[in-house]
Amino acid sequence: MSRAAVLCGLGGALPATAVTNDDLAAELDTSDRWIRTRTGIGVRHVVAPGEATSDLAVRAGQEALASALRAGGQDAAVDLVVLATSTPDRPCPATAPDVAHRLGLPGVPAFDVAAVCTGFVYALATASSMITAGVAQRALVIGADTFSTILDPDDRTTRVIFGDGAGAVVLRAGTADEPGALLGFDLGSDGSGADLITVRAGGSRQRSSTEPPGAGDHFFTMDGRPVFTRAVLDMSRSSQELLDRIGWKAGELDKVVAHQANIRILHAVGGQLGVDEDRIVANLDRVGNTVAASIPLALRDAVADGGLRPGHRVLLTGFGGGLTWGSAALVWPDLDPR
Ligand code: COA
Repeated sequence: MSRAAVLCGLGGALPATAVTNDDLAAELDTSDRWIRTRTGIGVRHVVAPGEATSDLAVRAGQEALASALRAGGQDAAVDLVVLATSTPDRPCPATAPDVAHRLGLPGVPAFDVAAVCTGFVYALATASSMITAGVAQRALVIGADTFSTILDPDDRTTRVIFGDGAGAVVLRAGTADEPGALLGFDLGSDGSGADLITVRAGGSRQRSSTEPPGAGDHFFTMDGRPVFTRAVLDMSRSSQELLDRIGWKAGELDKVVAHQANIRILHAVGGQLGVDEDRIVANLDRVGNTVAASIPLALRDAVADGGLRPGHRVLLTGFGGGLTWGSAALVWPDLDPR
């Protein structure tokens, strides 16, 4: 049986402060009713002043490593850390080495992957490929973002959607016939849509060191309607291409865990694939869109509430800035996250 990366640990972390729709309606021209009906979101969490992406990533990583230890009863030491984030602690260096250091993993290769809301799937594919190539034996893959730190406080379209958080999984070398084995990936990008989801200033094009950014250019912006359309199209197509490649039918899926962008997007993807709403995992009512943390946090909540069980056929699919998209498939293993 061929070598594969096998998922064997799962964890997550949310900042302490919860922001309800009513909290936002108290300062912006919006309402609980609008946010719930147009997005499906009820609450999101935001970091405290001084709290950074790495702080959440370390907590999620610790929880995933502890879960791997309980599941396997073996040494939890990993030899690779991949962190998906688009809100690193600072532009340079990457955040992953600091996270690895604080997790007590000295000398371990550690780097960031930036694919916005598709970041977790890209990072999973990267770590999985390094394990199947024999470069690594055991990897910690974290998705962590703190978009509250880059949102325009006056922009109601983004403030209502995004929340902060981190989710993590542990992968180990194993074989493709084991539960938890990552069975395939479909990844893609379209840079012609780079301006649809962007932070204009602060990089090498619009340099914040030489010229002050234009008003608001250091804030995150998103063109909601075309993003909505592309999210449905690209996640549906990517999912179907992966299913065709690994020989699964959409009707055989037990759970679809899509990037938690908007409940209407999730249901539209389900409709395109022919998957009923009760097989679409949704936790965005509790956490909002947590960007790279979205898929692992949805997995953790689905396990905790009993909806996702060992033996389930699971499809993961994400879409985000870049534009980027990606999907992965596995049979869910027996895990014990907290
Ligand atoms: N509260 C109240 N009204 C709002 C609002 C808010 N938070 N945000 C926008 N509106 C208003 C608009 O101004 C517009 O008013 P108008 O008709 O008077 O012009 C109206 O609501 C409809 O706006 P529209 O942009 O068409 O709404 P929508 O149904 O497309 O929902 C999003 C907006 C942002 C929720 C939606 O486009 C979306 O979810 N896009 C994808 C976002 C996403 O998933 N991004 C991450 C992908 S990785």
